[in-house]
Amino acid sequence: MVTAVEVPHLLRAARGEAIDRPPVWMMRQAGRYMQAYRNLRDKYPSFRERSENPDIAIEISLQPFRAFAPDGVILFSDILTPLPGIGIPFDIIESHGPIIDPPIRSLEQINKLTPLDPETSLPFIRQILQTLRREVGNKAAVLGFVGAPWTLAAYAIEGKSSKDYSVIKGMAFSEPEILHKLLGKIAEAIAVYVRYQIDCGAQVIQMFDSWAGQLSPQDFDTFALPYQQRVVELVKQTHPDTPLILYISGSAGVLERMGKSGVDIISVDWTVDMAEARARLGKNIGVQGNMDPCVLFGSQSLIKERLEDTVRKAGNVGHILNLGHGVLPKTPEENVRFFFETAKQISYAKLR
Ligand code: CP3
Repeated sequence: MVTAVEVPHLLRAARGEAIDRPPVWMMRQAGRYMQAYRNLRDKYPSFRERSENPDIAIEISLQPFRAFAPDGVILFSDILTPLPGIGIPFDIIESHGPIIDPPIRSLEQINKLTPLDPETSLPFIRQILQTLRREVGNKAAVLGFVGAPWTLAAYAIEGKSSKDYSVIKGMAFSEPEILHKLLGKIAEAIAVYVRYQIDCGAQVIQMFDSWAGQLSPQDFDTFALPYQQRVVELVKQTHPDTPLILYISGSAGVLERMGKSGVDIISVDWTVDMAEARARLGKNIGVQGNMDPCVLFGSQSLIKERLEDTVRKAGNVGHILNLGHGVLPKTPEENVRFFFETAKQISYAKLR
């Protein structure tokens, strides 16, 4: 008799199936709070090398998998990784973040950008995702991820992390057609990249529009949402069965609008009460999140209380347990361990 291959918990939750507990993983679960990651970083100081050398990237993704057995294992990479493939080189400087030099500011630069050919510019992604699938088997789902057009354009135009996004917004409000041209080109490239990640083995894709929460709702509808929708529409044309998650930081004011993107799951940050997020989003869409990452600096009893509260509020279908944003660099590893152990002991049947 052939036994049915077990489907990872996270995938079942993403599809809205009835399960006994919510699956759990953490944004940025591979990274600086782990001693094992810091040791590798000392050995390989370049972020681009760590993320583009398959052996190192695979090892980094597997560090939290081996340590905490999360239900999801995310590709170790960055949202900027595909940009050199369309003609926008970048670097990541320790404790400063991404640098794009020269930044993209003119129509002439935008006209020179090329379509993405992932087989040539991102060959390491295939090896990383294929190996991760083999290593985690059915014990966890392998997640791929991309940046959304608005957030990638923000890095390309600002040239670095920004507090007020004045350069990209200046362009939005003075030369909108130039910005739309860039957003359109990035959307095409990102759709190609999502398809490629799925073809290489990613079972779920999370799209980060981290800085779209900086837009007023009316500008969100003009500069962020249509390009999220474009990526989703292109991907769903060829890969309709792969669940897509959308994350925005500071999304409380645009939550309902996120639901219009076409994704299957909305990743909610901690500024929204999870029960209210559910009520605002409706029954047909899943949710992910949303514990404040700083709760991991609190006591274990607080962590447990907040985990259970989140699960109660999210209800017992279509919820992926996570933080409301990435785990912070100084987080104690023992609290991350406690978070995962406690989360995996939760049972919908027992939780009242
Ligand atoms: O979740 C994971 O474990 C996968 C790894 C991952 C990284 N970046 C690795 C990384 C993911 C999902 C990202 C996405 C990403 N990158 C986003 C969206 C998520 C979010 O936080 O909203 C954004 C905005 C970026 C751009 C970026 N990359 C920034 C702002 C920084 C600097 C952050 C800092 O605090 O220094 C990076 C660098 C980066 N990407 C690090 C990691 C682990 C830290 C640098 C290092 O480890 O040397």
